[in-house]
Amino acid sequence: MTATGLAAVRAADRAAREGVAPPALDWSRRPPARRRWQPGETLPLASEPGLPLGALLWRSLAAEPPQPALARTRLRRVPSAGGLYPVEAHLVVGAGCDLPPGTYHYDPLAHAATRRAGARHPAAGALVVLTLVPQRTIWKYGLRSLPILLLDLGHAVGALAAAAQTLGLSTWATFDANGADLARLAALPSPDRWLATWPDTDPEYPLAAVWVTREAAPPPALDTVLDTAPCGAAAATGGTPPSARPCPRLTAGSSTMPAPVPAARKEVTERVGAGAEPVGDRVDVGGDLVYEALRTLARGGAGARWRRAGLGSPVTAEVLIRRRSARPPLAGPVRTAVLAEVLREGGAAGQPEVSCLATVAEPEARLVAEEGGALRTRGLGEARPTLAFWACEQGFLADAGAVVLFTAAPPPWRHPDAASAYRRTYLTAGYAGHLALLAAEMRGVRTRPVGCWQRADLGEALGLDSELIVHAVVLGGGGAAKP
Ligand SMILES: Cc1cc2nc3c(=O)[nH]c(=O)nc-3n(C[C@H](O)[C@H](O)[C@H](O)COP(=O)(O)O)c2cc1C
Repeated sequence: MTATGLAAVRAADRAAREGVAPPALDWSRRPPARRRWQPGETLPLASEPGLPLGALLWRSLAAEPPQPALARTRLRRVPSAGGLYPVEAHLVVGAGCDLPPGTYHYDPLAHAATRRAGARHPAAGALVVLTLVPQRTIWKYGLRSLPILLLDLGHAVGALAAAAQTLGLSTWATFDANGADLARLAALPSPDRWLATWPDTDPEYPLAAVWVTREAAPPPALDTVLDTAPCGAAAATGGTPPSARPCPRLTAGSSTMPAPVPAARKEVTERVGAGAEPVGDRVDVGGDLVYEALRTLARGGAGARWRRAGLGSPVTAEVLIRRRSARPPLAGPVRTAVLAEVLREGGAAGQPEVSCLATVAEPEARLVAEEGGALRTRGLGEARPTLAFWACEQGFLADAGAVVLFTAAPPPWRHPDAASAYRRTYLTAGYAGHLALLAAEMRGVRTRPVGCWQRADLGEALGLDSELIVHAVVLGGGGAAKP
């Protein structure tokens, strides 16, 4: 038996927060890091005048050149839990951009765009539809994957917004557009129809979109965006393309849906009850449950609400390009003024779903929030050892310079809007975490996101209403305040 709908979201959330053991790593079964579309016209980026999508993607989602020491992974501008990069970007390009109008898939490893369908909207600007390919993360984290998948997607939104800011472009983001609508815009099958359209490929779940424009003009209403591409329309419904030009297909060979991974059946079924589905003598370690949860989250959405995206303070292209998660230890205090600025960025980006606080150790150990540019005490005492324990026992939090925490009320599971609220909370936390991280990097502070949180109820620990830690950025050292 597998939980369905909201019950799947709830079971997958509980599995992550209660720390169901991840599967044993099997490198031979690692899902491919790259999707290929064939036949597809691949265009180099940044060769034409116009709204600079090439530079935008280079500064936000592109991969580093291969490094011999990291033979299996090419790191990217944007961080990702476990370096697994489950986020894909589809570009729905309108007028006035450095790519001709059309619908493209972005390949971050080649920094190139593959044209998959025709133009779908006439407005000046581009819509970046962000999807999740969950198997990349499930392969390593199994049933723990749902929150970190959403956090990764939120970081990607933050990376695009910050890169746009360095190019003088405006961005709006939506975290609650209906997934089938986003799929239609990006000329993809909806999550519910993916496997019927492209069997044996891992489905993509479109859960966020970023509108990029040179004008400060707001995004076009999603339901008025034109659906003019016969190829894309056919792909979206699974029919035969009516156009002479063949419709690019996702090639199964480069992105197959792996078979379930053998796992500790007893533990999985005990910990999540009906959430785990036995498959013969095997258990799918999270695949079915996490997929069903993502399908449910993609179905949600009362209609796209857009928020202006980007940092309140300046960020440079150099910081975006050289960002790296610092290796622990991240000891060394963070200056009060710097921490206040980081909390202001994180707090503003998190509103209204997510609150932003931090632990500091000096001059006295306390929990602080930013208010009017200063740090206000929210609790006294040393919280870092407890945080290290809650963060899946990652000891380096215990002596970190500061731990910036993103917290939210528990999901309103009985409310009809629960799935949307859950999706918004984690996407917002990833987005706010990214902007806080960049604000810290801008001020010379080393950073590392931490998305693994188990039984981490900060509110309860403070004797208040339940308030869960959903994400964090660990900060270390120095921090010369820059103007
Ligand atoms: C959502 C999210 C959660 C993460 N969680 C952890 C974590 O729990 N512990 C950790 O050491 N690093 C964590 N990281 C950092 C990743 O391991 C790191 O981004 C990845 O290895 C790529 O390296 P880079 O950030 O230097 O590009 C997380 C990153 C993201 C985006």
